[in-house]
Amino acid sequence: MPEPSKFLLTDSQIPSAWVNVLPSLPEPLDPPLNPQTRAPLTPQDLLPLFPMELIEQEFCPKPLIDIPGEVMDVYRLWRATPLYRARRLEKALDTPAHIYYKYEGTSPAGSHKPNTAVAQAYYNKRAGIRRLATETGAGQWGSALALACQLFGLECTVYMVRISYDQKPYRRMMMHSWGAEVYPSPSDRTHSGRGVLAATPDSLGSLGIAISEAVEDAATHADTNYSLGSVLNHVMLHQTVIGQEAKLQMQQAGEEPDVVIGCFGGGSNFGGIALPYVLDRLAGHGPRLLAAEPTACPSLTKGKLAYDYGDTAKLTPLIKMYTLGHDFVPPGIHAGGLRYHGASPLLSHLVRLGHIEAQAFPQLRCFQAAVQFARHEAILPAPESSHAICAAVEEALAARAEGRPRVILFCLSGHGHFDLGSYESYLGGKLQDYEYAPREIEVPAMAD
Ligand SMILES: Cc1ncc(COP(=O)(O)O)c(C=O)c1O
Repeated sequence: MPEPSKFLLTDSQIPSAWVNVLPSLPEPLDPPLNPQTRAPLTPQDLLPLFPMELIEQEFCPKPLIDIPGEVMDVYRLWRATPLYRARRLEKALDTPAHIYYKYEGTSPAGSHKPNTAVAQAYYNKRAGIRRLATETGAGQWGSALALACQLFGLECTVYMVRISYDQKPYRRMMMHSWGAEVYPSPSDRTHSGRGVLAATPDSLGSLGIAISEAVEDAATHADTNYSLGSVLNHVMLHQTVIGQEAKLQMQQAGEEPDVVIGCFGGGSNFGGIALPYVLDRLAGHGPRLLAAEPTACPSLTKGKLAYDYGDTAKLTPLIKMYTLGHDFVPPGIHAGGLRYHGASPLLSHLVRLGHIEAQAFPQLRCFQAAVQFARHEAILPAPESSHAICAAVEEALAARAEGRPRVILFCLSGHGHFDLGSYESYLGGKLQDYEYAPREIEVPAMAD
């Protein structure tokens, strides 16, 4: 028998609960603050934006939360996702390391994002909401939510970051096909969008600006809620299906990872694969956890841990996170989903506590790793996911240089079939790197 490269689970092995690390943290998270009063948020403060069941998950003290049957029914359309051993890549790198990857690109939208989109649409439908408003960078989140809204009978409005709207017309078509309406952000539909357009008519947009537009849309329409594809605790929670499955599959492979890697935008695919392993670390025996972010938008490695707004127009609660400042507009790198000034507060906290490491990678090296991966492992990755591949390749090369084998597990968060324009630019020699120029990071002043 040839050695296996693919590790699969049956439907009955799909996790039936999400894993919540909040009750296991050695120090509690700093609470989100009301932006007006600076007092800790109450669940009522969040009700204009989210349904109560999701608000409860945001602060939940239970270690496990059952996944509702209707959400499981949808998960079963593509979950469990496969885990692969990258034997061909290992050989090409001539490394003693074993490289495994959990492939989330088999979902209908092509990434990990539907894991939370489906749950969020479900809870909003139960709360009697008619429409969800959201932002999208690369279009992956927007298409995931468009799909989820379609499946649960909700309308969906997507504010798509201008540069991605122009670079990725087919993502837009996908969202339209699933019934969503899509606007380039900044748009003239909202007060905050009009403000940005007045100051910078040719703005490329950013996730921070698009979030302001979607939050404003939801807050000004009683039948509409807001939905966020990353950053928040309930999003991290829903994504833990990734790491739970990966653990079972690594058991099948008969190995334990020494290092677990994910690319990092707001933190949801990284949290998804890493959080179940955080519990092992808190028990004293977990792997290293490495977040791979772009040098153009290095919130974890160059940001400040501070209370800041999640959006540009300062409409969201203040959250304690690594941030480059809510006014930071990252350069137009092709990994649109990594162009976010902030980071999940939960993962920021775990970085501060020393459980998560972070490293920044430049765009060109990431594309080089993505193409190398595609040529050996066959899958053409999303530009976001290429950051995780780049980190995994560097680990594998370090294993070779040091003569120390190790087991590497990374999350391949999505495929790049709608990102061919960026591959065209890379292969045509037209892509450039952007270094982050250190700047004064502007965060709101806090009373002691
Ligand atoms: C394929 C893919 N990976 C990663 C990300 C980054 O988001 P997060 O850090 O929440 O996983 C995105 C965001 O759009 C994405 O589309």
